[in-house]
Amino acid sequence: MRKKITVVGAGNVGATLVQRLAEMEVADIVMIDIPQTEGMPAGKALDIMESGPIYGYDSRLSGATSYETTAGSDIVVITAGMPRKPGMSRDDLLNTNAGIVKGVSEQVVKYSPNAILIIVSNPLDAMCLVALKTSRLPKHRVIGMAGVLDSARMRWFIAEALNVSMESVHAMVLGGHGDTMVPMPRFSTVNGIPITELLSKEKIIQINQRTCDGGAEIVKLLKTGSAFYAPSASTAEMVESILKDKKKVLPCAAYLEGEYGIDGVFVGVPVKLGSGGIEQIIQLNLTVEERMALQKSASAVKELSAALK
Ligand code: NAI
Ligand code: 2OP
Repeated sequence: MRKKITVVGAGNVGATLVQRLAEMEVADIVMIDIPQTEGMPAGKALDIMESGPIYGYDSRLSGATSYETTAGSDIVVITAGMPRKPGMSRDDLLNTNAGIVKGVSEQVVKYSPNAILIIVSNPLDAMCLVALKTSRLPKHRVIGMAGVLDSARMRWFIAEALNVSMESVHAMVLGGHGDTMVPMPRFSTVNGIPITELLSKEKIIQINQRTCDGGAEIVKLLKTGSAFYAPSASTAEMVESILKDKKKVLPCAAYLEGEYGIDGVFVGVPVKLGSGGIEQIIQLNLTVEERMALQKSASAVKELSAALK
């Protein structure tokens, strides 16, 4: 039987994600937006569908402003919400997007009680908590996208610094998707060679900082919104790992209950992603400094989540 994905929010991230997933031919896809957008999701779905004969894919796409056609989805990606504008932090979006993610989660589980949810809306870690609490799904089926994106940015900065293929570079960014995120140079390698062997301390500090500022760098350039090409690529990688049961190990926001000494919040950690969703949270042996940075990041997420109205 064909797999089915729903993408809620047919904006920049949502529509680009739908295009990527269609080209990957992993499932049929339904794209949802609010009633005020009328034919927009259907129009974008049809437009992407009509690229199928040229690209050679047979995924069936549709768009709607209500949830009936989403019924029985295997995966639902929530990208609904406001993006950042210059001068705004991800946290400024908290209560507006919480209301949106709550409403969307209620609809989604009503029609797809067996789905795995991937949350993209910001502020990411707090929105994951809203989705978990509203949907009442088991914690391994609510997953946040951020670490794959932050790590991809770090991978590019490392590849650029060393003038090597991005494919050879692996990087790991843990923690919340905000200013306190924790780039992990010790777990970042060029085909197995730790970057600490290849780059100076000063250069690594610079790369870490640019990684933490990666989202803001794009917002400042775009002026009208936030990044969407790399975010949609990152989400597509997570979707593929789940649908194909590839069991990729990726940094994702997961609900922690004691792992890394953190409890009751979503924080980015390495997880194994397969058909069951988060199949394992991998616990790394961290140095005291790394552990403190991760716990500081988790505290920032906790504080923000506590401000949810
Ligand atoms: P966008 O403004 O282009 O698209 C958002 C879409 O959501 C709009 O079409 C809007 O009509 C729709 N929407 C709003 N309320 C809705 C509702 N109740 N139901 C269904 N659809 C609804 O924004 P963009 O750039 O696509 O970003 C979407 C969200 O993803 C933002 O919150 C942004 O901050 C976040 N984001 C998160 C990233 C991450 O790493 N986790 C990376 C990039 C974006
Ligand atoms: C990003 O990191 C806005 O969270 C989004 O680009």
